[in-house]
Amino acid sequence: MNRRKFLACSAVAALLPKTAWATPAFRLKAGPVDARILSGGEGLTPMLGFNGSTPGPELRVRQGDRVPVAFENGSGRPSAIHWHGIHLENAMDGVPELTQGAVPPGATFRYAFDAPYAGTYWYHAHHRSWEQVARGLYGPLIVEEPDPPAVDRDIVVVLDDWRLDDAGRLHESFGNRHDFSHAGRMGNVARALFSHDTIRRGDRIRLRLINTATARMFPVRIAGGTGKVVAHDGMPLAEPAPLEDLLLAPAQRTDVILDVAEPVSFGLRTREGLYRLGTLAAGGSNPAPFDTPIRPLPPARTPAPDRNGAVRLTLVMQGGAMGGRHVGSDFWAFNDRSGMPEVPWHRFARGETALITLRNDTAFPHGIHLHGHHFHEVRDDGALGRYRDTTLVDRQASRDIVCVFDNPGKWLLHCHTLGHQASGMKTWVEVA
Ligand code: C2O
Ligand code: CU
Repeated sequence: MNRRKFLACSAVAALLPKTAWATPAFRLKAGPVDARILSGGEGLTPMLGFNGSTPGPELRVRQGDRVPVAFENGSGRPSAIHWHGIHLENAMDGVPELTQGAVPPGATFRYAFDAPYAGTYWYHAHHRSWEQVARGLYGPLIVEEPDPPAVDRDIVVVLDDWRLDDAGRLHESFGNRHDFSHAGRMGNVARALFSHDTIRRGDRIRLRLINTATARMFPVRIAGGTGKVVAHDGMPLAEPAPLEDLLLAPAQRTDVILDVAEPVSFGLRTREGLYRLGTLAAGGSNPAPFDTPIRPLPPARTPAPDRNGAVRLTLVMQGGAMGGRHVGSDFWAFNDRSGMPEVPWHRFARGETALITLRNDTAFPHGIHLHGHHFHEVRDDGALGRYRDTTLVDRQASRDIVCVFDNPGKWLLHCHTLGHQASGMKTWVEVA
């Protein structure tokens, strides 16, 4: 990653659209939008969005709510929406060819699901996602705790990149085979987009970072305050962790609670220094700052794994450029097979625990996502670590995860570098 490859980009406040509330149902209308990504004299960027903007509106609900969403497909192409990270009913998971048919242009599909766990989630197109997400079809989905931690501001921070030409238009190189076989479609502009941009010195703020990029890992440094990491992929940490440099793979989220000392800046760490993604300007000071310690979020009541009775499986990531061993019928493969098998990779009895070794035999890192569930990362000392829905496995590395397959249905398991998914790195499991 080379900082000079990025277009210069002055930091005008880049604001996300307003929160939407379900009254009585959310309405998400996909269609063309003109996005302001570059802030110089370049033009607007023609993209796709929801309800007139990209990212789409922040959908905000409470834990336990039923979430009805009418998806009106004005995008001019077949599509479907996936509610990333939600443990929902399988039929609402938004995966064409597995859980529903693609929604034709002009049609409406009514989603409705329960949101059992509070946290930071997002929604995105799941049909030709390497193109449709890059064109802008995604947005934040926030599930509030029944009793949210007290903060002065709750701010969604979307991290994304875009590949733009000199006129500010999206580069039409979607599906580029070179991108697919390497690290995916990288943008030449990267930004942090905020749901609010007014904070004060002394404020306690909750930051909900979401990496919505189709391929870019975001190594992020947050400066301007002291804070704690309180959740990953929506799920609370038992004990808040010190805020150090973060690394978010595509689709991963991290929640931070921060006490603001000065303007809060988000930098992308590159070999050549920090690239500025965006800054929350601090105006004025809070006359009554919090003086209590940052406490853990209320724990999620998730199923307890049975490690002794666990079925043991291994998923090997294979293929790609730069020396990856080529097997399967496309660039990438899991266990010698590219793309969706007719039968699931594994069938689980409902409630069964699995210990899965994810082994990366390729020259690239992969963020592996399981639909409809979270799983524990197993730490080096054997203890159960972070509870996530997307785990980053570095090149030539291996990671064990433990998952309780308690949600019936057909669930996708894939790399969230969307060009890798498109060119072979996906499979599915069934829970019956
Ligand atoms: Cu975030 Cu299969 O997706
Ligand atoms: Cu990958």
